[in-house]
Amino acid sequence: MSSHPSRRDFLASSAAAVSLGALAAEAGESAKLALHGGEKAVGPAPKHVRWGELERDQLAKAVDQTSLLYWKGPQTSLFTQRFKAIYPLEHVHVCSSGTAALHIAVAAAGIGPGDEVITSSITDMGTVIGVLFQQGVPVFADLNPTNYNLDPQDVARRITPRTKAIIAVHLGGNPADMSALLKLADEHKLTLIEDCCQAWGALDRGKPIGTAGHIACFSLQQSKHITSGDGGVVASSHPTFGPLLQRFGDKGTDRGGATGGLFHEFATNYRMSELQSAFAAAQITRLDKIASNRAQAGSLLTSRISGLKGLTPHQVNSADRCVYWFYMLRMKPEAFKCDRAEFVKALSAEGIPAAAGYIPDPLYGNPVFQKHSFFAGRWPVKEMGLTQMDYSKVSLTETESILKTCIRIQLNEAMTDSYIESIATGVKKVVDYYAIA
Ligand SMILES: Cc1ncc(COP(=O)(O)O)c(C=O)c1O
Repeated sequence: MSSHPSRRDFLASSAAAVSLGALAAEAGESAKLALHGGEKAVGPAPKHVRWGELERDQLAKAVDQTSLLYWKGPQTSLFTQRFKAIYPLEHVHVCSSGTAALHIAVAAAGIGPGDEVITSSITDMGTVIGVLFQQGVPVFADLNPTNYNLDPQDVARRITPRTKAIIAVHLGGNPADMSALLKLADEHKLTLIEDCCQAWGALDRGKPIGTAGHIACFSLQQSKHITSGDGGVVASSHPTFGPLLQRFGDKGTDRGGATGGLFHEFATNYRMSELQSAFAAAQITRLDKIASNRAQAGSLLTSRISGLKGLTPHQVNSADRCVYWFYMLRMKPEAFKCDRAEFVKALSAEGIPAAAGYIPDPLYGNPVFQKHSFFAGRWPVKEMGLTQMDYSKVSLTETESILKTCIRIQLNEAMTDSYIESIATGVKKVVDYYAIA
């Protein structure tokens, strides 16, 4: 994607806007929706090619090796070296998933039975799986209404003597308010873990996401900005936690030999293989372009739909770079003649890759939380009196409202400026039709 629309792109998009506008003016009303048989605002999406020669060549090198184990493997070393060139963190450990990275992080941070970890409940289940496996207690804080990340004031209200850590999720690739969260972490001596699974390439006030907190966790799952099919990275420069990452990702084995083969940590096998590292080593060379294209696509969309009555665009701090794993806007239900389902149906009919909502319920609303049935129908820390947490009583106003009113538009790095312009045209068309005058 070029950084500026070509003249042809510009003319095409202006022509689309003019013809729709003219149509509307002529009819004395809004343009006919594609849902009602009108012309679609958006054409076919640009082809999105995510891998090719680079990955094939790197995989071929791995196939020529005699070992595919990550430890001292050339592919893992190459990937780690390239990762460190972007994220200058001292200890970098590859692992089998983002969920694994987060589990390794909480284990290395010493989260134990009854320890509370404050985090978001609009996220992937993988954010909290590790906390629960370490017998910690996820405590859900409410979110900012327009950037969908942790609201630091609500986090502050939930800090107790049992709080040991905060997991800041950079939802959709949008940096959380790290300066406020770091301040809280410093004041209360908490570990700040960053869930960067959806945020490869994002910048927090110019700095790579994951470098401000104590431990950073990334996912290489299929749908992420860069991938190895599945995989993850956990990284830290913290003098205590950093050296433990490798052990907690590899059954407690210290491959550096410091423990003389004895197990000092109890951990599971979260290893990633050389084949995945080879793929990831090639993928990470594409990251800069992927991140900047997505950032541009998202800001262009925001600039075009800002000010539309009844919609709130995805808000990004002006000093940050959001990499739009998805673009999430909100609809004010009272401003429209239709409900969200119909609005999204109309967007989709226009050719916009839109979906209503994100996860069906905040994490705490899921049956496993409501029934506290984490371990064969039981929750030992509650039975032992180490927590009073009752997820059936948790209710977070903004979190629940976000899920009821949000609309996701799937962006990717192949989308041209003119394609984004056509999405904006389609959104305007649908708003014009359904807006209450
Ligand atoms: C915010 C977030 N955290 C954690 C994860 C878990 O990553 P993985 O699927 O690689 O285990 C994901 C993946 O979807 C995610 O989006």
